[in-house]
Amino acid sequence: MRILAIHGSPRTIRSTTRRLANFVLEGAADAGAATEIIDLADYRIIPCTACEACILNGICVNDDDVPAIISRMKEADALVFGSPVYIDNITGQMKIFFDRLADAIHYQQFSGKYGCSVATTAESGSAEVVAYLNHVLNYLGVVCVGGIGIATEGQSAKVEEYEPAARALGKKLVDAVREGYIDPAQDATLSDNRAYFKNIVEVNKDLRIADYDRWVRMGWIK
Ligand SMILES: Cc1cc2nc3c(=O)[nH]c(=O)nc-3n(C[C@H](O)[C@H](O)[C@H](O)COP(=O)(O)O)c2cc1C
Repeated sequence: MRILAIHGSPRTIRSTTRRLANFVLEGAADAGAATEIIDLADYRIIPCTACEACILNGICVNDDDVPAIISRMKEADALVFGSPVYIDNITGQMKIFFDRLADAIHYQQFSGKYGCSVATTAESGSAEVVAYLNHVLNYLGVVCVGGIGIATEGQSAKVEEYEPAARALGKKLVDAVREGYIDPAQDATLSDNRAYFKNIVEVNKDLRIADYDRWVRMGWIK
């Protein structure tokens, strides 16, 4: 079992959010998972220009590191998203990456995976950012098992207090991959999302034959 964390702090290895995400991964590793982390700020990610070329075949015209990151996401059984709070939102690095996932969202390419999110802040916005990160995971088709948002009040060492809770979240993620995780509210959200994106898949069925066939196979298009 593979669990991949992706975080959007530009502070990379000095990041408090990375530390929190790493605690989640350590809990998952103790429960038997192979884990890895991606520091988005170390990668070349060109912003989406809405050229819509990806509609044709799912391939972006930009030659950068996003396809490799998406491949690693596809290989993972579970995903952990993390971001510090910047002006009560995710970081620009994280948002530019998310915009590049629009095609993966439309075709629900991460359906069947589990996930969770973490955020750190000085004071404000961590609960909202965790909710947003989990919302994006749901958009991707991922079922979330929880999240942790913390306010350090400027004392980044405070993150250490959350190690037990973060490790428990990592174990919960592993349990979800092994045994499944039932959440009727999220199931309804994911089903609503598929009903919404179905139109895109049907309109482009002659361009995106493999994707269309997968939707039929999954019973999402009858
Ligand atoms: C550009 C910028 C914007 C920030 N915006 C907020 C904010 O809106 N509210 C807040 O309480 N803290 C804010 N912070 C503080 C960070 O959220 C906080 O230090 C966080 O733990 C940093 O995480 P990191 O070490 O993973 O980068 C901001 C920091 C920066 C650099």
